[in-house]
Amino acid sequence: MKNFLVINNKIKSFNKNITVSGDKSLSIRAVLLASQAIGKSRISNLLESEDVLNSLKVIKKLGSNFKKKNNLYEIDGYGLNSFYLKKKLRIYTGNSGTLARLILGLLVNVNQEVKIYGDKSLSKRDFSRISNPLKVFGVNIKLSNNSLPATIIGTKYLRPINYFENLGSAQCKSAIMLAALKTNGVTKIKAKKSRNHTELLFQNLNIPIKLKKTKKFDFIEINGPSNFSSFNYNIPGDISSSAFFIVLTLLSKNSSILIKNININPSRTGIIKILNKMNANITFKNKKVYKGEAVADIFVKSKSNIKSIKCPEYMNSSAIDEFLIIFLVAAKAKGISTFKNLGELNKKESPRLDIGINFLKKIGVKVLRKKNDIQIYGNPKLKLKDEYIMKDFLKDHRVFMMSSVAALTLGGKWKIYDQDSIKTSFPNFIKIIKKLGAIIN
Ligand code: S3P
Repeated sequence: MKNFLVINNKIKSFNKNITVSGDKSLSIRAVLLASQAIGKSRISNLLESEDVLNSLKVIKKLGSNFKKKNNLYEIDGYGLNSFYLKKKLRIYTGNSGTLARLILGLLVNVNQEVKIYGDKSLSKRDFSRISNPLKVFGVNIKLSNNSLPATIIGTKYLRPINYFENLGSAQCKSAIMLAALKTNGVTKIKAKKSRNHTELLFQNLNIPIKLKKTKKFDFIEINGPSNFSSFNYNIPGDISSSAFFIVLTLLSKNSSILIKNININPSRTGIIKILNKMNANITFKNKKVYKGEAVADIFVKSKSNIKSIKCPEYMNSSAIDEFLIIFLVAAKAKGISTFKNLGELNKKESPRLDIGINFLKKIGVKVLRKKNDIQIYGNPKLKLKDEYIMKDFLKDHRVFMMSSVAALTLGGKWKIYDQDSIKTSFPNFIKIIKKLGAIIN
C-alpha cells in the first residue's frame, strides 16, 4: 500500500454532521481498569486504534480475556492480584505513552521480571518521570537511557508514597494512582492540573479516593488496596480527534459541522476556549453528564476574522495534544499570537514544538522562539501555491492530520508521508475528510 497522501485541492464548502471515534484516554483507562475489576466489564464505542488494540493485547498477555460482540467489548477481570504471567514476559506497548506508563503502575506488585518495550518514537520518550516515583513504592525498575525498554520487578511489600507531579502529566499522575490502588495505606499526590479521567473513573467505581482542588493543583489521596466490581462504560467521542475537524471547518469557507457526542471534560477543552478567544464561535449542544464526564455535540462554523491570542499558560494542559492544530489557526489570525512554556510538547510522539515551528516556517509564516515560548506572526491572507512534502516526523499521527488540514484549507500541492500513522489514534480520519468532500489521492 502506498503510504502517502496527495492533496492538490482545498476542500469545498460543507455542512455536515459527523461522529468521530471513541476517546483514546478513556478507552485505554477503561481497558486497563476492566482487567483489574472483579467480573465481566462491558465497554461500548471503544476506540479501535493501535494504541487501544495494544492495550487489549497487553491485558490478554497478563491473563485477562476479552471478546468483541457487535459494538461491545467484554473484558474479564479477576481483581487486583490476578495477573497470571509467563516467565520472561515481554510486553509491547507500540506508540502509546499512556499504555506504557499506566501498565508500569499496574505491574508494581508482580514479583517477577517483566520487560516493556515500544516502537521507535516511544523508545525516545522520557520514562524516568515514572520510574523515579515507582521506585519510592519499593519497585525495582531499570530503564535504557531513561527510556524504554524498561524492566520492572514488582514487590509484595509496597509502601505508600507522597508524590508531587509537577509536569502536568496525566500519564504520570494516573500511573501513580494505579500503583496506589495496589498499595497498602494512603498514597498522597499533589498534581499540577492535567486531564482527570482516572480520578473520575475511580470515583465512579467506588475506589476510595479523596480529591481536593485548588486553582493550581489537585490533591489526591488513595487508600489501597481496594478491589472493585466490573462496570459498563460507553466511551464518548474524542475531542483530540474532533480538533482536526473543528479547525478544518473554521478555516474553510461557508462551512459548518456538528460533531456528535464528544467528551468535553473541562480538563480537555482548552482548544475550544483558545479558539473562542481567537474569535471563533464554537458552541456545545445537548450537554449531558455521563459517569462524571461532560459530553456534548460540538458545533462549528467557518470564520474569516480570526484574531491572535496571548495564550495564558494555565490553558496549556487542557490543550496539550492540540497545539499543532492551534498553531495553524494562529498562522491565519490577524496579529501576533504568543504561547508560553510549551516544553512538554517536545516530549510527545515527536518533538512537536520543534516540528510545529519548522512546519510554520515551511509555509512562510514568521515564528520567533525563545526557549519554549513562541510568537506566531499571523497572516489572514495566507494562501499557499508551492509544493510541500511532509516527511520524517517520527510517524506522529497528529503531525500527519494537522498537515492534511493545512493542505485542505490553505492550498498548495502536498505530499504527506506516513499515512498509516493515523492508525495510532484515529483510523477513520481519511474516511471522514472524504465524506466532507475532500479530494485526496
Ligand atoms: C494522556 C496524557 C497526555 C497526552 C496524551 C494522553 C493520557 O500526556 O498528551 O496524549 O491519556 O493520560 P502527558 O501525561 O505526558 O501530558
